[in-house]
Order: sequence, then C-alpha cells, then structure tokens
Amino acid sequence: MTLRIAHYALSGRALLAPMAGVTDRPFRQLCRRFGATLAGAEMLSADQRLWTSGKSRRRMDHEGEPEPRVVQLVGSEPAPLAAAARRNGALGAHRIDINMGCPAKKVCNRYCGSALLADEALVQRILDAVVRAVSVPVTLKIRTGTDPTRRNAARIAQVAQSCGVAALAIHGRTRADLFRGAAEHDTIRAARAHVHMPLFANGDIDGALRARAVLDFTGADGVMIGRAAQGAPWIFRDVNRYIATGQFAAPLLRAAKTEIILQHLESLYEFYGEHTGVRMARKHLGWYCRQHPDAIELRSSLMSIEDSASQFAAVKCGFERWARQEAA
Ligand SMILES: Cc1cc2nc3c(=O)[nH]c(=O)nc-3n(C[C@H](O)[C@H](O)[C@H](O)COP(=O)(O)O)c2cc1C
Repeated sequence: MTLRIAHYALSGRALLAPMAGVTDRPFRQLCRRFGATLAGAEMLSADQRLWTSGKSRRRMDHEGEPEPRVVQLVGSEPAPLAAAARRNGALGAHRIDINMGCPAKKVCNRYCGSALLADEALVQRILDAVVRAVSVPVTLKIRTGTDPTRRNAARIAQVAQSCGVAALAIHGRTRADLFRGAAEHDTIRAARAHVHMPLFANGDIDGALRARAVLDFTGADGVMIGRAAQGAPWIFRDVNRYIATGQFAAPLLRAAKTEIILQHLESLYEFYGEHTGVRMARKHLGWYCRQHPDAIELRSSLMSIEDSASQFAAVKCGFERWARQEAA
C-alpha cells in the first residue's frame, strides 16, 4: 500500500533525517536521487529576525528541489512558530515540520526543541497554532521524552494526532541521552499503539536489515535515516529496495560512487561559493573517506587543501585510484 503524508504519496519508506550543517540543498538533492523521500531541510529558527543571515538564507533555499519541499522550524512559542510557518507556506514550502527533537543546549536554553516535551500543554498549543496557520501538512519530530524516567512520546503522539499533525517521526533517545547509548525502539512501538497517523522510526538505522527489523518491531510506517547517510547517500536506494522487495540491491561499484562524490563536490562549490564550498566539502569528504582503504592518509591530505580546483583534483585522483583497484 502506498504510504501518504496528507496528499503526498511517498515513493519509498526511507526518509532523510534533517541534520543542521549536513542536509543542505545539495545533500538533500543527492539523497533524493537515491530515493530518500521527503528529504528534510536543516532546522530554521522561528525568529524571523534571524532570517537575513547568510546561514538562514541558505537554509531557506529550495531552488530546483522537487515537491514536496520541507521546512523544519524550531521555536518555543505558538505565535512566532505559526507566523514562521505561514511565511514559509507563502514562500512555497509544501510541508512544515516542527522540531521537538533537538537536544542542543543553544536550542534548549530557549526552551525549544526537545525541551518542549516537558510541557505537553504547550506542545498542544504550538501544534494547534501551526496547523491552523497553514494549509500545507504539518509534521512533528520528537525524541522519546525528556529523560529515561519521562518517556512521554506516546502521549505527545496522541496530542499531535488530535491537533491534526499529518505524520510523526520519533528518535529513539530522550533529550537527556543526547546521542549517548543505543537508540531504543520500545517507546516508538508504544506510540504506534496509540496513533494511526504515519509514523517514522529514527535512531541508529544504518542499513537495510536494521531498517526492516525496526519496522517489524515498532510497526512504524517508515524509517528516518540521519548519520548513516553521511558519506553514503546511496543508503536510501538499498533500504527502499530491501523493504519493498526483500532483496538486496546490487552494490554500487566504486566507479559509480566516485562519480557521485565528484558531483556532490561540484554542487557544494556552486551552492556555497569557493570559500565555504571547500570547507563544507571537507566535512563530507571526511565521511566519504571512511570507506577508502587509505582513509587516514587521503583524509589528511584533502583537509589541508584551500581551493576547490585542487580539492576536486585530489579527490578525483584518490578515489579514481580506489575505483581502478576494484576493476582490476
Ligand atoms: C549533525 C546533526 C544535526 C542535526 N540537526 C537536526 C535538525 O536540524 N533537526 C532535527 O530535527 N534533528 C536534527 N538532528 C537529529 C537527526 O535528525 C536524527 O534524529 C538523529 O541523528 C538520530 O538519527 P540517526 O541515528 O539516523 O543519525 C541532527 C543530528 C545530527 C547528527
């Protein structure tokens, strides 16, 4: 059966998790090419005064992205969040996602992100206000609770459903866990029992088998993948194929991966310009290098390069050599 979020039919069951500093437009487009559905943008503050910064403007840049374009908002109060949602709807967002999952101190000190999970009444007021403010679907991303003694994701899920939220993603850690320990999926399974809205399980899903196991255990409709997509945007192809057919996709050849990496670099240079493009590329190259047998040497040689032409040439040389070793 085709999975839908409101009227949007999802082509697969694997979503790209929003990751600030990672899921920029070039990375979203790359992951979508490999079948990531509804690839989420980086969180954007509901405080519109901050939207003039270069960082926010880039986060709001969805040019050329296929529908549906997803904007994720982080904030602490109903009215500014509703206003920010309305504005993004007017700017062309096809779905508004509310971030109640971020544990970062900078965010939580202002009582946003996962800190909001401590106040279910406020969660309700926020979701009510945002859903009423826009005509596009509103979705929610949460953690399992504020700390291991207060895992209230199932109640938040019910609140969300009663407010008309169109889908929910749950990261299997509490706010207090940060990224420590393994994600647990019992709370996601418990939430599933309380809501019928589309539900996405998130946390430590690193491949097709794990995705299948988490879907089977939780009863979720799909999985949301974050860190495992870093340096491996093709993971969505593998996971979607396995979930849909029970068959593994043929592994991508190194030559194909090299081509993808080079195209990714070009899109980063174009999106960010020379200076920032080279620095953003370093971050992704660090992840791409993990699969290279000479990862340490290659990585350190790439990190010191200051201009895009030399960086591109060094990556091409290093990864093409790696691809030739496979072909030999
Ligand atoms: C670098 C980084 C940035 C993130 N930024 C966001 C964000 O902007 N919004 C959000 O809802 N979650 C954010 N997250 C959390 C992820 O969406 C996801 O919930 C988490 O990484 C667990 O999934 P994973 O184990 O598949 O990585 C971020 C995570 C990382 C590692």
